[in-house]
Amino acid sequence: MMNDWAGLPAIYGDVLRRAMDSLFRTFENFSEGTFIVDADARVVWINKRYAARFGFADPEQAIGRDCEAVIPNSLMREVVKTGKPILLDILETDREPLVVTRLPLKDDAGATVGAVGFALFDELKALTPLFSHYSRVQEELIATRQSLAQARRAKYTFGSFVGTSAASLEVKRQARRAAQLESPVLLLGETGTGKELLAHAIHGGSARANQPLVTVNVAAIPDTLLEVEFFGAAPGAYTGADRKGRVGKFELANGGTLFLDEIGDMPLPLQGKLLRVLQDKEFEPLGSNRIVRADVRIIAATSADLPALVAAGRFRADLFYRLNVLTIHAPPLRERTSDIEALAYAMLEDLSTQARGGSHYELQDDALRLLCSYAWPGNVRELRNTLERAVMLSDSERIDARALAPFIGSGQSGAQGATAQTPDGSSQTAASGADAAREPSSWSDAMAAFEKRFLSDALRANGGRVIETAAQIGMGRATLYKKIAAHGIQV
Ligand SMILES: Nc1ncnc2c1ncn2[C@@H]1O[C@H](COP(=O)(O)OP(=O)(O)OP(=O)(O)O)[C@@H](O)[C@H]1O
Ligand SMILES: [Mg+2]
Repeated sequence: MMNDWAGLPAIYGDVLRRAMDSLFRTFENFSEGTFIVDADARVVWINKRYAARFGFADPEQAIGRDCEAVIPNSLMREVVKTGKPILLDILETDREPLVVTRLPLKDDAGATVGAVGFALFDELKALTPLFSHYSRVQEELIATRQSLAQARRAKYTFGSFVGTSAASLEVKRQARRAAQLESPVLLLGETGTGKELLAHAIHGGSARANQPLVTVNVAAIPDTLLEVEFFGAAPGAYTGADRKGRVGKFELANGGTLFLDEIGDMPLPLQGKLLRVLQDKEFEPLGSNRIVRADVRIIAATSADLPALVAAGRFRADLFYRLNVLTIHAPPLRERTSDIEALAYAMLEDLSTQARGGSHYELQDDALRLLCSYAWPGNVRELRNTLERAVMLSDSERIDARALAPFIGSGQSGAQGATAQTPDGSSQTAASGADAAREPSSWSDAMAAFEKRFLSDALRANGGRVIETAAQIGMGRATLYKKIAAHGIQV
């Protein structure tokens, strides 16, 4: 039977030689340059065009020279030494980079006797689709790594914790001590008192500072996903969206710190698993049959009353004792009013750099008195939000009580009842001063009033049960708790 090969001599060696010959000629014709070196990486042959590109008018002048002396950055010596090809590479030259391929030349016994190099293209344009894809992926990878590293570094230091009251100094002293130790830390305190700030500062001040700080907000993750979030899962271990498997936060935090925020919201079965990991210092990702060592320092925080949760059987006593080693109580702002001035100025400074760089806000005495006379149920966070709103809507950089009053406790119920001095000297509650004095006059006031009414109605409809309400209105429990505190809603 006839085929295309019929005319060829049936001697394999000959076919091979022809193939090599035509391959070489094809490359030679279509490439931007070809050159051959001997076993000592000295040039034995170079085509005219290529020689000219590197400044040799006559190719003969290049013969016998070291390959690097003819083509700077040449890797032909490596190919000769290792006997291994470099199939695709980019050769930087003082003009455009070249796409090159380098192959070893072997004798019949398989010894490397030299190498041949082809410059395939002198314009990377031919490879543009490939390169742009590669560089896009590369850029994305770098950006993701940077933002991850950033996200996993401590955002705050001890210096970020503003306050010189006795209570604040004591908190900072305890937190600094905790940074030197390895035991778990438990941060307790009302919403907005700086627990997250302290967690970052403790990690940043510890020997683990250069390792990751990984946060899990227990309240923000549905119970069914928490175990995978913590311990990870092997590919195909469960039929969720993550078919590729998932690395758990424990593994991501290895060597560093795992910050378990809102730990009071952890479901009981997971509490048992967490306790076991803290004892054994190892765990198994879901469906993996793989034991992972966990060298992780735990910092836990909650605004819930943990001992009460233990008493009610909603938090395991053994886990509580395990976590309750270095316990730090972040005091509410109303118990350290002497910090308010320093806090307010630190925040105003921050706000001025953020917003209209160059602004220099000043608080008038009556504004300071107003700030100090309010109860701040939302603590430092509420103070910051109040100042932020006042600054945004204030026409002047000098903020007095009259400008501040509408924002203090806006949306708070009168029951919070901190007595405040109004600019005209009369005494009234800051909250009712905001609520009763006028209809909402701005979008943010209107939104706040609406939110408070909406949440109060939803809570009432659910008999005051926060978890049920959160599920019904599609809001995270932690967020709802914070809003209840910030609006002063009675549950
Ligand atoms: N002592 C402080 N000095 C400066 N800023 C503070 C201080 N305490 C808290 N803040 C600021 O107040 C805000 C709330 O703090 P943080 O998030 O740490 O509170 P939290 O106790 O974790 O609250 P929650 O229980 O609601 O999560 C943040 O913007 C934080 O930077
Ligand atoms: Mg927090």
